[in-house]
Amino acid sequence: MARRRDALRWALAGALGLALPAGTAVLASRRPARSTPDGAGGGDSVTPGPTPSPPPPEAFTAPLPVPEVLRPVDTSGGVDRYEIRQRPGIQQIWGGIDTEVWGYEGRFPGPTIEARRGRPVAVTHHNELPVPTVVHLHGAVVAAEHDGYPTDFVLPASGDWASDPVLLAHSTHTVAGVVTGSRTYHYPNVQPAATLWYHDHRMSFSGPQQYRGLVGFYLIRDEVEDSLPLPRDDRELPLMIADRTFEPDGSLFYPAADPTLHRPGVALNYHHSGMLGDTVVVNGVAWPFCEVDGARYRLRLVNASNARVYQLALDPPPPDGSGFVQIGSDLGLLTAPVRHDTFLISPGERYDVVVDFGAYPPGSTVLLRNTLADGPPGYVMRFDVAGRVADDAAVPSTLVPEEEPLPPASTSADQSFSFISGPEGTGLPGMINMRTFDGARVDASVLSDTTEVWDITADPQHPVHLHQAHFRVLSRDGGPPAAQDTGWKDTVFVPEGGVRLAVRFPDYRGRYVFHCHNLEHADSGMMANLEIE
Ligand code: C2O
Ligand code: CU
Repeated sequence: MARRRDALRWALAGALGLALPAGTAVLASRRPARSTPDGAGGGDSVTPGPTPSPPPPEAFTAPLPVPEVLRPVDTSGGVDRYEIRQRPGIQQIWGGIDTEVWGYEGRFPGPTIEARRGRPVAVTHHNELPVPTVVHLHGAVVAAEHDGYPTDFVLPASGDWASDPVLLAHSTHTVAGVVTGSRTYHYPNVQPAATLWYHDHRMSFSGPQQYRGLVGFYLIRDEVEDSLPLPRDDRELPLMIADRTFEPDGSLFYPAADPTLHRPGVALNYHHSGMLGDTVVVNGVAWPFCEVDGARYRLRLVNASNARVYQLALDPPPPDGSGFVQIGSDLGLLTAPVRHDTFLISPGERYDVVVDFGAYPPGSTVLLRNTLADGPPGYVMRFDVAGRVADDAAVPSTLVPEEEPLPPASTSADQSFSFISGPEGTGLPGMINMRTFDGARVDASVLSDTTEVWDITADPQHPVHLHQAHFRVLSRDGGPPAAQDTGWKDTVFVPEGGVRLAVRFPDYRGRYVFHCHNLEHADSGMMANLEIE
């Protein structure tokens, strides 16, 4: 279907002699074929693929941008206050061609918010887009009214959304209600230093709206982290990885059933796999390169893709192997670093790793590869290593104090949830425990300030995210957790064999959600209500 669209566009452009921006035709003709599904939920197994075909010609031609840190508009009263306009913007993502995005401050990704543990932040979001929006701070411990419950819509100031039938049906069950124009979200930041990210969460439309660009970093810092000799400043790089597909004119391709985003749903052939793009974008640029010193760098990786799962590896690996020294998980620093040659990152997950480029000879080029994909999505970005420099950064063997012990993996589960994709090609919705999302139904009822053991199974494989709760992986596939399961998490890649989790519910009450972070799955109904009492 996608290929036919291209063919049709090209036929039209040729027949009508449409003027295309210089360079478009050349680049567009080199555009990789639309990828075949190889992300979460596609049913493919998670094993490294063969040596990939060479990188696409437009790869590694643009430098890596780092999103700007947003300045607070006010810091009085012990609260940092920010204003964000959600609006369309133009930026060059690949091949120097203009692409329209919907972004926080008109940018994809949006500006980064830097918060301090214990110091509250209030962000006022103004919706200047043509669609309702909802903002969720992924990984945050926050009051339910500020969590971005999917039906807590912020309607655009203009338009007749208030009478939209889908929106009206969704508005029957809200937590903070529906507002017009803007909403202020309050974040207490009562949690350790971590890489969080904020993104759109509009009920049934989180896929198309995040894909358009409504994603951004939110970093919490604290004194524990400050006291460690980790790489910092220019040697701390936030990397938001997201795959996209572009039309030859530079616009974003998304298979929405209704391009105006009034009626939900995606084209049938994207329903099961989710939207898998053929181009890997990091911080808003396709396959960027980054010049680095021969020194240690801290990479804060976020997988902000709608559906794609990456198995990241450095190519070539450093001479002594273990190119990635993991220092943090979704929710902050680990007690001790964990070394990896490669690790898997599914949508919504964060990995905080240190890479020592000083281990490479000066002048090396190091590819960040995704060994799950052959072809263009097998490449993420390139690091160009300059000369060795003095480097006083280090990764201590103890990062944060030891935790209280976890419940043993043999503890029987308090609750079990099975995440199931509708059969391929049927367009049937995703489900949790054989039910699609219903705002009126409570699917998991728990007590605040408690820990429960949850079993999660998946058919075939799903990245599962819990709002508000944080968890540790007790077992995976019936065996011990993987090395990369270490630490506190809010999102976990669930294989067919399932995972067992120790889930901690903080001392807050109210209604939150948990869902698959394959956004097309979540949008089709693979989401459930979590009531904390
Ligand atoms: Cu990152 Cu409910 O989402
Ligand atoms: Cu899923």
